Amino acid sequence: MYEILKLNKISPVIKNVFDGKYTLSDESENPDGILVRSANMAEYEVKDKLLAIARAGAGVNNIPVTEMAKKGVVVFNTPGANANAVKELVILAMLLASRDVIGGNKWVNSLTENVAKATEKGKSAFAGHEIKGKTLAVIGLGAIGKLVAESALFLGMKVVGYDPYVTEKVKKEFEGKAEICGFDEAIERADIITLHVPFNANTKNMINAEAISKMKKGAIIINMARGELVDAEAVKEALHEGKIGEYVVDFPDENTINSEKIIVIPHLGASTEEAEDNCAVMAGKELVEYIENGNITNSVNYPGVNKARTGKVRTCILFNAADKDDVEKIAGDKEVAVKGDYGYAVFDGDAAVKFDKAIRIRTIA
Ligand code: MLT
Repeated sequence: MYEILKLNKISPVIKNVFDGKYTLSDESENPDGILVRSANMAEYEVKDKLLAIARAGAGVNNIPVTEMAKKGVVVFNTPGANANAVKELVILAMLLASRDVIGGNKWVNSLTENVAKATEKGKSAFAGHEIKGKTLAVIGLGAIGKLVAESALFLGMKVVGYDPYVTEKVKKEFEGKAEICGFDEAIERADIITLHVPFNANTKNMINAEAISKMKKGAIIINMARGELVDAEAVKEALHEGKIGEYVVDFPDENTINSEKIIVIPHLGASTEEAEDNCAVMAGKELVEYIENGNITNSVNYPGVNKARTGKVRTCILFNAADKDDVEKIAGDKEVAVKGDYGYAVFDGDAAVKFDKAIRIRTIA
């Protein structure tokens, strides 16, 4: 029996993914796998059985992924599973920042008499702009950014994109439709800037005073990715000076709530029933496939290896990339996968394979 620990509430459809070989609970001392959403795992004490953690979502900044890799624990996420939900909220954010529906709604609800007449008289205070014809900078062209760019084009916007890791496939898809350029050029040209990059040491405060100084006056910033990507103090100052028009953020904190020209959303980007189901199913399947067959898809700390089993026994070896040559000696002419500092290989045969330097070695009968 495999034990799966849930550290957060996960969509009940998850039950369909695990068959009778699994128990799913909120309390397991020594689980084989963990399902997590936003729980902070920085202090989580890893026990010997733990093989993998699957995050039902895209961002993994709540999981110490490198520490887990060192311990031979594979961390998965679910890229794309909630992308449509986030995309739809970005469209809403662009519209809310361009049309003062929130201010107008508050005002109209405050009217006490002759509402229809008073509405027509006072509504001009809430007039806005259309997004058609405006330039949108999409920072990060992964699953979400790509969908946002496509929808924006469909809405008649001009799109400029920036992504240092942009794939050839994405470049080709946007050829002749959107321009892919450098970060500075993208933010300089944009009327609206939307962020779709992970939070890490390189992206922390990527929108800071210097970046803001390059933006057009009145530019709108949309942040559905992570609060830490934006220096909120710098944005507040720029809003005060009129350099920035609006800031829409899905990660409220003391700095951003109750501020004029900041629309705060309580982290609803992926909170749709559809996205929660998709993420749960994808995360659950990733765990099952790794636990039962040693296959890795969508890991953030180990390379992807997905092979149909051929022998009686599968040996799964997690290793340090520095030991790749030694693993290759066992692999013969087969390719050995490495991602950053860590590698992974599976060997099918009649008997288990040995490798003394493995971070973790496991056989599946
Ligand atoms: C994500 O990282 O996928 C989104 O922010 C939603 C979430 O945190 O669950």
